[in-house]
Amino acid sequence: MLSGLSFGCAIGPGLPIVSDQDAEKAGVERVTLEAGRKLYASKCSGCHELFHPARFSAQTWEIKVEEMGEQLHMKKRDLVLIYGYLATFSRDENPTLQSSGSGGVSAPLQATP
Ligand code: HEC
Repeated sequence: MLSGLSFGCAIGPGLPIVSDQDAEKAGVERVTLEAGRKLYASKCSGCHELFHPARFSAQTWEIKVEEMGEQLHMKKRDLVLIYGYLATFSRDENPTLQSSGSGGVSAPLQATP
C-alpha cells in the first residue's frame, strides 16, 4: 500500500489521519486509533521529532514503544494505544496489532477515548 512513497523527513502535523477503513483493517474501533494518534502526538513529541509511523515495521515499533515507555514510566494503556496507531500505519502491509502475547505493548486494544 505504501510502497513507492517515501517518508524520509520529519513530520508532525503530517501524521496519518485515521479513517473507518483503517480501523476496519486493524480490527479495532476508530476512536481507539484516534486516541493512539493523539497520545503519540502529545506524549512523544517533547524530546524529538515525531517519526512517521511508516518509518518502521510494526515489530520495530513494538520494541521502540516498549523501550521509550519504560524510560518514561508511561502508563501501559497509553503505550498500547500508541503502539496500535503506529503499527496500523507502519510500513507493514498487514501489521499485527496483537502479536507475541508476551504481555508487552501489543496487548488487545480497547476503545477507551
Ligand atoms: C524524555 C524525552 C523523550 C520522550 C518524551 C520520548 N522520547 Fe523517544 N527518544 C528519546 C531519546 C533521547 C532518544 C535517542 C536515544 C535512545 O535511543 O534512547 C529517543 C529515540 C527514539 C526512537 C529511536 C529512533 C531511531 O531512529 O532509532 C524512537 C522510535 C522513539 N524515540 C520513539 C518515541 C515514542 C514512541 C515516544 C512516546 C511514547 C517517545 N519516543 C518519547 C527521548 C524521548
